[in-house]
Amino acid sequence: MRQPLVIGNWKMNGSLVFTEELLHTLEARIDDKISCEMGICAPFVYIKFATELTKRSVIKIGAQNVSEFSAGAYTGEVSASMLKELGTHWVLIGHSERRSLFNEANTALVQKVLAAQSAGLTPVYCVGETEDDYKSGKTFNVIADQVGALLGSADVDLNNLVLAYEPVWAIGTGLTASPEEAQKVHAFIRALVKEKNIESADGVRILYGGSVKPDNAGSLFGQNDIDGGLIGGASLDADAFVSICQQA
Ligand code: PGA
Repeated sequence: MRQPLVIGNWKMNGSLVFTEELLHTLEARIDDKISCEMGICAPFVYIKFATELTKRSVIKIGAQNVSEFSAGAYTGEVSASMLKELGTHWVLIGHSERRSLFNEANTALVQKVLAAQSAGLTPVYCVGETEDDYKSGKTFNVIADQVGALLGSADVDLNNLVLAYEPVWAIGTGLTASPEEAQKVHAFIRALVKEKNIESADGVRILYGGSVKPDNAGSLFGQNDIDGGLIGGASLDADAFVSICQQA
């Protein structure tokens, strides 16, 4: 049995006041209707504040990126051990915005996963095809390439890892993959993990992301291989995020 997991990705949004208000509201709303594990990936500068605010709650705080290097002359970078020191639990790696806007490629992303795991963080490795890939029927090739890069590293710990499938054309657009379409990709990802390690494949959680909202969350989460969601826009709204968590 995989415990459902819902992680909010605030992206580059918020402020100190926003962080405090939203986290307080979420905490106040968490009740026994929520049985999923919950995470919030906040901007780096709010992580310490956020971990203090959620100390007594079930919400675990994450980061949205991490350096592949452990320390040294890498101006502007933040290492995995620095994040760990702040109480960070999750770290998103390879979000499509990092891949496309900041040219992050598979090789460096796998190094980031290794850096995160060796510092004791849980990486959330994101994959997904662009609209062009989707329209030209290349979804499975792209996913095989992105997941394959990760599985190609013998050092990755498949038991301390979350995967997220986020079709790029669905992120922030209001479009979503249909539950059946998403399920096919999730099952494909799980089969790839299974080829590498049968035991880990059953336990690894694969989240769906891309315009998940209260009105489509239930049907997506109802699919066998969809173990929860990575939520962008809707995670900035306490009512929407709580409703999504209740459905997971
Ligand atoms: P969205 O973003 O829910 O706003 O589409 C998802 C994501 O980018 O993780």
